[in-house]
Amino acid sequence: MNPTCKQLLDCLIKTKSLSVDEYEFLLKNFSENDFNFAIKSAKEKCEKHYGSKIFLRGLIEFSNYCKNNCFYCGIRCENKKLNRYRMTKEEILQCCQNGYNLGLKTFVLQSGEDSFFTDEILCDIVSEIKHNFPSCAITLSVGEKSFDSYKLLKNAGTDRFLLRHETADENHYSFLHPKNMSFENRMKCIENLQNLGFQLGIGMMVGSPKQTTKTLAKDLSFIQRIQPQMVGIGPFISHKDTPFAKEPNGSINLTLFLIALIRLILPKALIPSTTALATLTSQGRIQGLLAGANVLMPNLTSEKGRDYSLYNNKLRTGLENVNGLKELSENLNNHGFSISYDRGDSLIPVKN
Ligand code: 5AD
Repeated sequence: MNPTCKQLLDCLIKTKSLSVDEYEFLLKNFSENDFNFAIKSAKEKCEKHYGSKIFLRGLIEFSNYCKNNCFYCGIRCENKKLNRYRMTKEEILQCCQNGYNLGLKTFVLQSGEDSFFTDEILCDIVSEIKHNFPSCAITLSVGEKSFDSYKLLKNAGTDRFLLRHETADENHYSFLHPKNMSFENRMKCIENLQNLGFQLGIGMMVGSPKQTTKTLAKDLSFIQRIQPQMVGIGPFISHKDTPFAKEPNGSINLTLFLIALIRLILPKALIPSTTALATLTSQGRIQGLLAGANVLMPNLTSEKGRDYSLYNNKLRTGLENVNGLKELSENLNNHGFSISYDRGDSLIPVKN
């Protein structure tokens, strides 16, 4: 006889692993009780390792130029309606200074794949941030690069790297991306990042077109195998100027259930409650934390005219000033959480 979802969840809690078929069964058949049990268990696991502390990462979206043409993404190169911008090194450093003044100890520099920012330019920016703010961690989220480029960025002082795998199913990957992008290279990049000793973040969208319980089960199995330090997931949200304009948005509840499962697979991971979740529902950010996430990434780049719209109506979860931080802190306190002003390195050791 097949085990029940409850039995599979108990097994996952104990062993931190299931097979692809077991994940698929769980995703297909979970009841409201199973959902509630997973969420509660995930939150307990998170508290066991990280207490009720929530880590903050100051997000700097420094360029929305991108050479890629991913079918889901609003900053794809074929979207001619988007106003493109690129921040200068001085502007980026100023964002870090503002974040530092608020007490942040991690800066996440994210951009499209913008060839203006050569290895040399990026390394110069990274080392200057490190020089000015030696107590802070730097995370890059700048897409696919060669092993040698990643190595230069690591040596310049980059601590962490986010590169979502987007989907662990090769056919699904081809459906979401144009022909010149390959699943194989994505996997190679992830392997290289891990071998170079970055704290690594991977992840996927929930509810992307043609995603199935089977592809999601493969995502969970992939996360279980890679053992990354960070996992970022959020619902797919359609963008009107992309080929997926008419596709429905991903489900909030499924996203929350998956956050919980990921927490059970990797009790010590750093898991953000993402902007995409907050965009779909007003309580999304808190709901993510209640399901086992423990990181928030407020935006440090909220100047007018800077449109980093990966998807429509992307929420600005900015920290414009001390008031923004105070509000956030109070909101978290009301739900039993508090802000950590530590760097918040992952408790999962990096490879090497
Ligand atoms: N909806 C939700 N997430 C998206 N991303 C890109 N486009 C969308 C969208 N339409 C996510 C991708 C990417 C990350 C930076 O943003 O997973 O890796």
